[in-house]
Amino acid sequence: MRILITSGPTREYIDDVRYISNASSGRMGYCIAEAARHRRHKVTLISGPVGIKPPHGVKIINVISAHDMLKQTLKHFNNCDCLIMAAAVSDYMPARKVKGKMKKEKEAMALELVKTPDILMEAAKKKKNGQVVTGFALEADFNMDYALDKLNKKNLDMVVLNTVKAIGEDKSSVWIVAGDRLKIKGYRLNGQRVADAGGKMKNEKCRMKNVKKSGVRSQAKMAGCKDALIKLNNVSKRRIADVILANAERISYNKRKMKNE
Ligand code: CTP
Repeated sequence: MRILITSGPTREYIDDVRYISNASSGRMGYCIAEAARHRRHKVTLISGPVGIKPPHGVKIINVISAHDMLKQTLKHFNNCDCLIMAAAVSDYMPARKVKGKMKKEKEAMALELVKTPDILMEAAKKKKNGQVVTGFALEADFNMDYALDKLNKKNLDMVVLNTVKAIGEDKSSVWIVAGDRLKIKGYRLNGQRVADAGGKMKNEKCRMKNVKKSGVRSQAKMAGCKDALIKLNNVSKRRIADVILANAERISYNKRKMKNE
């Protein structure tokens, strides 16, 4: 398969010296790229600024900002079978970039920020038959609601739910919802629509009450995706990468099979 991976943080410059960014090391995406090479895939890695070496045999494209990453992702998305969006894209950027270096004049200052483009969503909009799109959901804790919301809203085939605890750690725990058997009907977060819960949950208030009481598995089950749920407990990034890739290969195979039937 031709696999396109994004990794690392993006930098959104305030002036020529300062920027807004985040603590992503890029290691997850680089690990997926290395594992994908091992599995004999053709890999293109679009990377924000990181301090690690790209794996051998991978085509690397270095970018700085979310807009740069969007441009390169859309450019290469057409020619890939699978996009894995592991980058920690800055959600906001300064409304205006100041040329040169801002002077320290006032006691306090406010910075106007505007949203960056959602790269994953923009790419997934252009998804053609057979392409597999995977995103991450980084949350404060394991909240399947947020992960499923991202899966639906961004038109994904797979979502990897991890928490802020994973940042900087060698081993971490994740939930993977890997999609070709998903039946999430009308799923929406925060009550706009009720999840298809096999007729058990009558209204959103009732559902949310039960979600709060229940664990991640029950939340997913209520949304109809129990068959496609994988839990990895305290494992290496390499193991997470291999499971993501194995599922991407399976989904891609099934999509191609369906297309030819
Ligand atoms: N993502 C993206 N472009 C953005 C923000 C996020 O492509 N501007 C991608 C990330 O690479 C990840 C997924 O969307 O695969 C989810 O990112 P996350 O930070 O968990 O969620 P957000 O969509 O940014 O929403 P929030 O920060 O409100 O949770």
